[in-house]
Amino acid sequence: MPESVYTEPQTSAAGLNIDFNSRLQITPLRASKDFGCSQGDQGLEIIQGLSQIPKTLPVQYFYDDRGSQLFEQICELPEYYPTRTETAILQAHAPEIAQITGPCELVELGSGSSTKTRLLLDAYATTDLPQWYCPIDVSGGILEQSAIALLADYPGLQIQGYVGTYDLALASLSRPVLPARMICFLGSTLGNLNPQECQAFFAQLTKALQPGEYLLLGVDLQKSPQQLEAAYNDSQGITAAFNLNMLRHLNWRFQANFNLDEFQHLAFYNVRDRQIEMHLKSLRSQTIQLRTLDFTVALEAGETIRTEISRKFDLVELQTQLGQGNSLENASSSSTRTLHPLKVWTDPNHWFGLILCQCLA
Ligand code: AVI
Repeated sequence: MPESVYTEPQTSAAGLNIDFNSRLQITPLRASKDFGCSQGDQGLEIIQGLSQIPKTLPVQYFYDDRGSQLFEQICELPEYYPTRTETAILQAHAPEIAQITGPCELVELGSGSSTKTRLLLDAYATTDLPQWYCPIDVSGGILEQSAIALLADYPGLQIQGYVGTYDLALASLSRPVLPARMICFLGSTLGNLNPQECQAFFAQLTKALQPGEYLLLGVDLQKSPQQLEAAYNDSQGITAAFNLNMLRHLNWRFQANFNLDEFQHLAFYNVRDRQIEMHLKSLRSQTIQLRTLDFTVALEAGETIRTEISRKFDLVELQTQLGQGNSLENASSSSTRTLHPLKVWTDPNHWFGLILCQCLA
């Protein structure tokens, strides 16, 4: 079973004495056979990715603590429009979202700094009910920092955080204390999943949600390749540093010997697949060892490793897909649930969309 940390009351960075004991629990989730995967599976994904053509690396290795900090910097970049556009949509419509759903526990997948969550927490703060927030992130450092800041600013808030992947967290969610729950998947992180992963993810969501509960999904929309490519090739080089940091993370985690100076950041829009692709290009022919995985991979000069896809969506197509039903692969619960889109909001330029769905049996 996952064990919980934080047994002692602590003092926040602001020097406030906060009763963490009763208001904050952060639970690290580890892959185990209970969840249908083993510790070794993580390494297996890397070996599989580096053994195929084109070579790939799993996107979650961006997010060690340094990677999460670099991502926060990306969100502030002038070229990276998604964060501020989604924030503006939330600023305008969070009260309406709260009104539609009524009191809800907020579960946030990939919570990061939880900045946008504050807009939702403010909108849901209108009743006398206590507020519950469940942040989920692979990076424990940023989750803890954000939780501490939220507790200081929202005196009635209870936080149950999970440090781990979405799969593990969705399978571990405890039953809601409030009448309903809303899973928030913001920032277009959905775009980092390929179509098959996306379908499997929707099925996992419908399994985690009870009929009547909600999903709030933020997605980046199709637009000109120039605007998209600028967002992933910023002039300050923060996105390049974020991309290269994955290699530093792998060096640490798997005792690998990637030399960051021998790789170059590449990002371009793949028009056919309607996705930005980020790659790391090997600047010379080289052999990389990942010692703890007992794995060696050869790279040609100029060969690339794809580190991320970031799909750009069409709102009509996505709503159809959500509403089509997401079969649960578990034979014992053969029902098909849908994520029925209730309402969609976008910005005046139609750059970004926010979809509120309700899980229906
Ligand atoms: C987290 N994710 C939605 C970001 C994106 O735009 O796909 C990650 C990112 N990669 C480069 N810049 C931002």
